[in-house]
Amino acid sequence: MNDKNKRMSGGKPTGERRSRKTPKESKDNATRMMHHKVKTARGRKIGSKLWLERQLNDPYVKEAKIQGYRSRAAFKLKELNEKYKLIKKDALVVDLGAAPGGWVQVSMELGAKEVIGIDILPVETVAGAQIIEMDFMLDEASDKLKSMLGREPDVVLSDLAANTTGHRNTDHLKTVALVEAAAEFAMEVLRPGGNFVTKVFQGGTERKLLDRLKDNFEFVRHAKPNASRKGSPEIYLVAKNFRGRK
Ligand SMILES: C[S@@+](CC[C@H](N)C(=O)[O-])C[C@H]1O[C@@H](n2cnc3c(N)ncnc32)[C@H](O)[C@@H]1O
Repeated sequence: MNDKNKRMSGGKPTGERRSRKTPKESKDNATRMMHHKVKTARGRKIGSKLWLERQLNDPYVKEAKIQGYRSRAAFKLKELNEKYKLIKKDALVVDLGAAPGGWVQVSMELGAKEVIGIDILPVETVAGAQIIEMDFMLDEASDKLKSMLGREPDVVLSDLAANTTGHRNTDHLKTVALVEAAAEFAMEVLRPGGNFVTKVFQGGTERKLLDRLKDNFEFVRHAKPNASRKGSPEIYLVAKNFRGRK
């Protein structure tokens, strides 16, 4: 396996990978940050032109490529972990909405012993991880995940994001449903003292769920990592030190 493939397979990281910097930290990046403009080719819609332009000019996309991460989202988890110390050595981590695998890579890099994950989309193998291809919203999904856990996990991560329809209410309801399902699952499986992180959207977490999380975790905060696009309504909810099932 050549170096590039090794990186993309997300195998256990080497010492060199532990010293990876975030794009914000990496001053030499300036030379790589030349602005790309994308011509509107025939057949290319304006929306996809803008998307492509944003991708080409996004320092986190560039840095993810350079550092062998499968997604720019990897930097979000790195930042959240830096600030909140979520993943400890030998942790058992659950990753909901794992594709393409950036958070799986970062979890292993941070010393997790195993990652159990799920996504509707396939995820290329990562050493130390078992990812199932299934809809997390199906009744059988949480039982399937539970059957794969040898013990209560230390951390549950959810970066679940539904495809948007453009219809505001529908999208909002879909998102709320994913966040609630992830939170309920976390509270069903986490070990006492465990941590939960979930993507939520503008407006933060619904009041009822936020109260429930505050009841069940000692520490609950909303956070917006630098790697999360400024214009995006996405934020994260960090809940630490699960009080345990009553
Ligand atoms: C933002 S991406 C996750 C990126 C990932 N954290 C990474 O670092 O590579 C959100 C993922 O949620 C998945 N997803 C959305 N709804 C889902 C569902 N009901 N069940 C399983 N996965 C779902 C999508 O397929 C997508 O891969």
